[in-house]
Amino acid sequence: MIEKLEEIFAQFEQKVGGLTNQADILNLKSEFIGKKGLISEVLKSLKDATPEQRKAIGPKANDIKNNITDMVAAKLTAIEAQEINEKLASSRIDISLTDDVKEGSSLGGGFHPRTLIQREIEDIFLSMGFDILDGPHIEDEFHNFEALNIPSDHPARDMQDTFWFHDPNAQSDEKKFLLRTHTSTIQVRGMRSRKPPFKFIAPGTVFRCERTDASHEMVFNQLEGMMVGEDISVSHLIYFMKTILKEIFKKDVEVRLRPGFFPFVEPGFELDIKCLICSGNGCSVCKQVGWVELLPCGMVHPNVLKAGGIDSEKYNGFAFGLGLDRLVMMKYGIDDIRHLQSGDLRFNTQFKTF
Ligand code: DAH
Repeated sequence: MIEKLEEIFAQFEQKVGGLTNQADILNLKSEFIGKKGLISEVLKSLKDATPEQRKAIGPKANDIKNNITDMVAAKLTAIEAQEINEKLASSRIDISLTDDVKEGSSLGGGFHPRTLIQREIEDIFLSMGFDILDGPHIEDEFHNFEALNIPSDHPARDMQDTFWFHDPNAQSDEKKFLLRTHTSTIQVRGMRSRKPPFKFIAPGTVFRCERTDASHEMVFNQLEGMMVGEDISVSHLIYFMKTILKEIFKKDVEVRLRPGFFPFVEPGFELDIKCLICSGNGCSVCKQVGWVELLPCGMVHPNVLKAGGIDSEKYNGFAFGLGLDRLVMMKYGIDDIRHLQSGDLRFNTQFKTF
């Protein structure tokens, strides 16, 4: 019987050598040492053996079983390792950058200057405890106009030339949906989803059906801000505006505050900065006036608070709508807003790369 067992083991060794597939190896294992395998078959005749013979056969059979188990495990591990190596070799990724890519050649990635500024502003506001909100590009009249104290007959609707969608479900030719003309829509969404006191900013793209020129685009970006609580005053507003401009420009920039009209704030202001492209001498960006409107702002109108579900007797607040693209232009000395959306690599690669 011992010879028989050795013969079986030799057979196993011979067969396993040629196998390269994991399933075949497992099948072979059960063919030899499974419950109904060859070894078990041989051991069936153990009952006819003498006690002496049994003493020798038992350990031998165990040894062979253990050997087979070990050989199968080793073989499976080797196959797995080989598969991994083959995969690695065929899908090799070279993660070492060459020097010319590092230096910002056209192959290198980079941040759009607006992304750089936006992140910087977000960090500053986050550090002052503001949340960052988002809102949809496609809006309804309520969020874009009505809730912001701009009823349908209000002349202010003409201030913002709007891209309208036709509502496919409307009976008449009613125009109900639109591409948001300003990020102030997010004021409404923000107010309705939280309880005062709160403060948040909301950067986003806005759309206006306008002629384009050096300082106007149909698609551009704003950064809305809002702070609501008890006893918020114009001095809070001015403090936050000044802080943000100082942080961004890392130098003193000349600013001026003048009254501005926006239906959603009362009083409303325009915060202008001295044009950094022409140092105030007049250019196409500042339309020869030497100042650029950058930060319209004001104290939130009680009607807006009411539309946002806020008790306007108890709470008040300020809001602002930073012209993000204009800020980028001032910061980097870009003399035409249309460069920002051009996708021109000669423009895009001038800024920080990674
Ligand atoms: N939404 C205005 C616009 O796009 C800008 C604006 C003005 C936003 C005053 C404000 C604000 O939050 O208080 O023209």
